[in-house]
Amino acid sequence: MISRRGMLLGGAAMGLVAAAPSAIGQVPSVDTLPPTAPVKRIALTAREIETRLLGPDKPATKHFCAYDGEPFKIFRFERGTRLAVDFENLLPDPTTVHWHGIRVPNLSDGVAPLTQEVIAPGGRFSYNVPLPDGGFYFFHPHCDETGQVGRGLFALLIVDDPQERKVHFDAECFIVVKDWRLGEDGQWIEMSTDEGAATAGTFGTVRATNGSVIPPRVEVPAYGDVRVRAIVADATRVIDLGTDHDDAALIAVDGQALLPPALTDHLPDGIWRMGPAMRADLQVRMPGPGQEVKVYDYRSSEPYLLTTLVAVDKGLKKTPFKPKALPASTAPMPDLKSPKTLDFLVQVSAGATAIGVPLPDDDPLAKALVDSLCVGAKTHWAISRDSWATGEALRLPPPLSQLSAGTTYVVNCTNVTKHVHPMHLHGHVFRVLSSSKKTGMPQYLADTVIVEPNETVKFAFKATSGNWVFHCHILEHMDTGLMGWFRVS
Ligand code: C2O
Ligand code: CU
Repeated sequence: MISRRGMLLGGAAMGLVAAAPSAIGQVPSVDTLPPTAPVKRIALTAREIETRLLGPDKPATKHFCAYDGEPFKIFRFERGTRLAVDFENLLPDPTTVHWHGIRVPNLSDGVAPLTQEVIAPGGRFSYNVPLPDGGFYFFHPHCDETGQVGRGLFALLIVDDPQERKVHFDAECFIVVKDWRLGEDGQWIEMSTDEGAATAGTFGTVRATNGSVIPPRVEVPAYGDVRVRAIVADATRVIDLGTDHDDAALIAVDGQALLPPALTDHLPDGIWRMGPAMRADLQVRMPGPGQEVKVYDYRSSEPYLLTTLVAVDKGLKKTPFKPKALPASTAPMPDLKSPKTLDFLVQVSAGATAIGVPLPDDDPLAKALVDSLCVGAKTHWAISRDSWATGEALRLPPPLSQLSAGTTYVVNCTNVTKHVHPMHLHGHVFRVLSSSKKTGMPQYLADTVIVEPNETVKFAFKATSGNWVFHCHILEHMDTGLMGWFRVS
């Protein structure tokens, strides 16, 4: 631990970060910024606090988990910055930190036991987090996610691209969808149920936006362009994001520019479906002073109000609405001339099984065990018959596939279950090419994509060296088997 920590710390501080071989995974951990990139050192803690989630005059909730003790903390840095993060675990449970959507070197990906061991209570770990691409990201634990994220443990991470300053917005507003599983006394009730884990997931008992059970009202300039940045940070909930307004466009998905941007009215059903971990940036052109635009989740039986934007006079004049094109993503793009194909089934598990080709005995990961405190007790799900370790069977499954770095892969991911699965690939930005069910969808970049029942989604990525997990982001699904990994070398 000390030596790995020392290596990461030293590497980050001194910029010696090219392709350090990973003792853990026998694959190079590739850095995504040059050694000359400016380094910003930050201290980060995870700890429990007491906070009021049900309302100001309701009982406070104990054991809320928060980074730096601050619920919904927003971190914001310039693209091209390297974060040297000194993390300390002040929780009573083991944890790790995963930088969702960021192309980090594999050793900083935060997945135990693939890229690091869990960080015990009181323990520390140093993460080297280059920020090579602008966008809207978040970070969260990758151990007992259902329990820790369920109790609030995540933070937003905005990476500002200097190029983007040319694209002007008059206001910015965040919508964080995160429900709470609380009893009337304001205390947590069990985060996971067998029934939920085996179906659509266990839902919160109270809905909330930005931590508030009362949907926020935000004052923004009349006739102005508002950048609405929405994220589903919930463990379970899938939303259909939309507004009651014509002058609105989807301009980024998972932090990467959608080019050209799409009027929300031109999207199928006029909504953008988002599962846990997914982000979307909308541009909303406000009407005149005193008028309102409502942002809804249209997936609920009654549209659920997420946020009201209230137009106030700031001297702006009415001009025709035009969706704005953000600068194109700087992530490596797949090369679709001669890709290799991978086919995966998302399915119900018949029990803890591993049918993939085992790693050779001398591979450091061949005997790696998953920490029992990080995963669920039962196995409900599998990817092409392999399930991630759960319960008593804590052996790391063999990789779903061994890939070569620099090669483009097209994944056909087919969901043969009755439930929706938002599938996330670590360490990469991929291009969603098509769906067997939806037509009229734009092609877009993402790090998490929803696969509906009986749907095959095709997406492509250029593989980067490392051991990377691929999993469902409905947290109880991932904790009960719906996770696998690729070795890219
Ligand atoms: Cu946000 Cu492994 O994921
Ligand atoms: Cu799932």
